[in-house]
Amino acid sequence: MNKQKRIVVLTGAGISAESGISTFRDSGGLWEKYDIMEVATPEAWHRNQALVMEFYNQRRKQLYEVQPNDGHYALVELEKHFDVQIITQNVDDLHERAGSTNVMHLHGELKKVRSSADEDLVYTLDGWELKAGDLCEKGSQLRPHIVWFGEPVPMIPAAAELSSSADIYVIIGTSLNVYPAAGLVDYVRPGTPIYLIDPSDLSVGHIRGLTMIREKASTGTKKLVQQLIK
Ligand code: OAD
Repeated sequence: MNKQKRIVVLTGAGISAESGISTFRDSGGLWEKYDIMEVATPEAWHRNQALVMEFYNQRRKQLYEVQPNDGHYALVELEKHFDVQIITQNVDDLHERAGSTNVMHLHGELKKVRSSADEDLVYTLDGWELKAGDLCEKGSQLRPHIVWFGEPVPMIPAAAELSSSADIYVIIGTSLNVYPAAGLVDYVRPGTPIYLIDPSDLSVGHIRGLTMIREKASTGTKKLVQQLIK
């Protein structure tokens, strides 16, 4: 047992794929079916609130129908042995539902909504449906609590700090296409072992000290956790 040792885990859509949530950029992924510019930008919200709300309502509805998978649960097991800190790009709550304690959401959370006038007014939505006319306490329309393309990512400084404190860094199920999240690995201290679990052939030659585990999150994470515990 080495609770002093910190393992920082950066997760992306791939860890939730086996729970039945589509990734974004795989074939058949969400960005093949929807235009990012129409549903995931502040401009889209100004143009067509109903469409944006519907897009996230469907994602939220689906979240109530899926369960964490072995990949999420393996990270909970890891917590019994290490100080595990998860940084997730995912807006689902599957890490929390599996039982992970330290989860930082970089891109927001589906089950939360916030005031469109004051970003500090954040609420947990009751049920899956956000509707036109649902207002914050100051009378402004509520919007999804999601970091849209073109918006700043408020949690990045904290995530960078966490990344630089890692004794071991683990990346699971992300195409590393979206910045600033994809740049977090640059904050990992030189010499720190880095593992990447993803079935695809990602171009990650620039990441020093990387061990690539080309497997799905469920099996790959379980194997890595067994190895780290030993
Ligand atoms: P992507 O869809 O870009 O990448 C998903 C990754 O998961 C790919 O590298 C796949 O190979 C991998 N993958 C697929 N199935 C897997 C499995 N069973 N186990 C492990 N890996 C698997 O998703 P992200 O990198 O998470 O942002 O995307 C980053 C951000 O872009 C998202 O947070 C979202 C999106 O636009 C916002 O919406 C703000």
